[in-house]
Amino acid sequence: MTEREDPRPASGLTGIVVGCALVGAAAVGVAIYAGPSLGMLSGGRPAASVPDTPTVPPNAPLGEALSTPRKRAPAHATEEYGRRLVAHTAELLGPDQPDPNLRYTASRLNCSSCHLGTGTEPGTLTLLQTDEHYPRFSGRAGNWTDVEDRINECMQRSMNGKPLPMDSPEMTAMAAYLRGLGAQYASMGASLRKAEEPPPFKTPERAANVAMGQIVFSTRCAQCHGADGLGLLATADKRKGYLFPPLWGPDSFNNGAGMHRVLTAARFIKARMPLGEPTLTDDEAFDVAAFINFKPRPEMPNLEHDYPDKRAKPVDNPYGPFADDFPLEQHKVGPFQPIEAYYRQIKKQ
Ligand code: HEC
Ligand code: HEC
Repeated sequence: MTEREDPRPASGLTGIVVGCALVGAAAVGVAIYAGPSLGMLSGGRPAASVPDTPTVPPNAPLGEALSTPRKRAPAHATEEYGRRLVAHTAELLGPDQPDPNLRYTASRLNCSSCHLGTGTEPGTLTLLQTDEHYPRFSGRAGNWTDVEDRINECMQRSMNGKPLPMDSPEMTAMAAYLRGLGAQYASMGASLRKAEEPPPFKTPERAANVAMGQIVFSTRCAQCHGADGLGLLATADKRKGYLFPPLWGPDSFNNGAGMHRVLTAARFIKARMPLGEPTLTDDEAFDVAAFINFKPRPEMPNLEHDYPDKRAKPVDNPYGPFADDFPLEQHKVGPFQPIEAYYRQIKKQ
C-alpha cells in the first residue's frame, strides 16, 4: 500500500514481541491449517490488553497498594467480542441497536465490508499487520496515533459514526482482536501470507471517466450492490445490516472516508471486486471508483482541519484546501501525475 505514511522506526522491543508470538505459533499452527476462521484462534487466550495485575500509582504505600481493588476491563471485552464487532458492526453498534448507549455508527456497514474476512485476508485492507504499523504519525490527524486512534478514524469516517470511548469494552475488545491478528500473522507461513490478488492498481495517465464508470457499474457491480447502488439488506430486519453493502447513500461511508478517495477506492476495487472475481483492468477500476465517488453520501463536518500540514494531503484527497493550485476537480479524478510531480518538486526545494 503505497499511500502509507512513514511508520516510526521499529524499536528493539519489536523483536522480543515477535519472538514471543513465534513461541505461541507452535501451539496454534495446527488450528490455522484446520479451521477456516482465523478469528476462532483467539478463543483460548486471554485478551491481550486486559490487565491482570492491580493498577497502582508508582509511589503508593504498600498497604494502599494491597487494598486497591483490581481494575480490570469487563470480562466480555475479549478478542472474540472484538472479532464479532468487526464482523457485525451494524448489528452491534449501528443505528438499530436496541441499547441507545451502544449506537455508535450511523452507517449500516460492517468493518468487514471493507476489511474482508474480518481483516484476516492478506493483501489490500488487511488488518493482519495493523499491530506492526502503530504507533505512527498520521498526516491527517497531524499527530502520533495508536491502533485505538485509527479504529476511531474508521468509526467516524468509514462508519459515519462517533468515536468509541478509549476505555470502553468495545474499544478494548476491538484493539485486542487487532493485536491478536498481529500475533497470528507473525505465526503464519509464507504461503498463507500471500494475497491472491491481481497485480496492484497502476494509476492511468488521464482523468477518470465517470460515464465509462457507469457502464462498468451496470455490467459488473449492480447485480450485487443494486442498480441504485444502495445495497441489499440481509433480511427484512434492518438491524441485521446488509448482505451486499451500499456504495453510496445514507447507510454508506461519509465523504471524509479513505474509500472516498478515487485512488484508494480503485486499489481496493481492482484487488477485490467484483467479489470472488476481481478481473477489472486499471482503467475500469479507476472509472468505476470515480463514478461511485460522485454519488451523494453523508457529509462529515470540519474536514478543512484535516492534514494540518496541507503538503501532506494525498493527491486524490477529494476536499480542499490544498497546498497547490490544481483545481478541486483534478484532485477528484486526475490526471494525478502532474500533481505528484509538483509535490516531488517542492520536496526537493
Ligand atoms: C468503507 C470502507 C471501510 C470500512 C467500513 C472500515 N474501514 Fe478501516 N480502513 C479503510 C481504509 C480505506 C483504510 C486505509 C488503508 C491504508 O491507509 O492503506 C482503513 C484503515 C484501517 C486501519 C489501519 C490499518 C493499518 O494496518 O494501518 C484500521 C485499524 C481500521 N481501518 C479499522 C477499521 C475498523 C475497526 C472498522 C469498523 C469500526 C473499519 N476499519 C471500517 C476502509 C474502511
Ligand atoms: C458477487 C457480488 C458482488 C459484486 C458483483 C460486487 N461486489 Fe462489491 N461487495 C460485495 C460484498 C459482499 C461486499 C462486502 C464484503 C463482505 O461483507 O465480506 C462488497 C464490498 C464492496 C465495497 C466496500 C464496502 C462499501 O459498501 O463501500 C466496495 C467499494 C465495493 N464492494 C465496490 C464494488 C464495485 C465497484 C463492484 C463492481 C466492479 C462490485 N463491488 C461488485 C459483493 C459484490
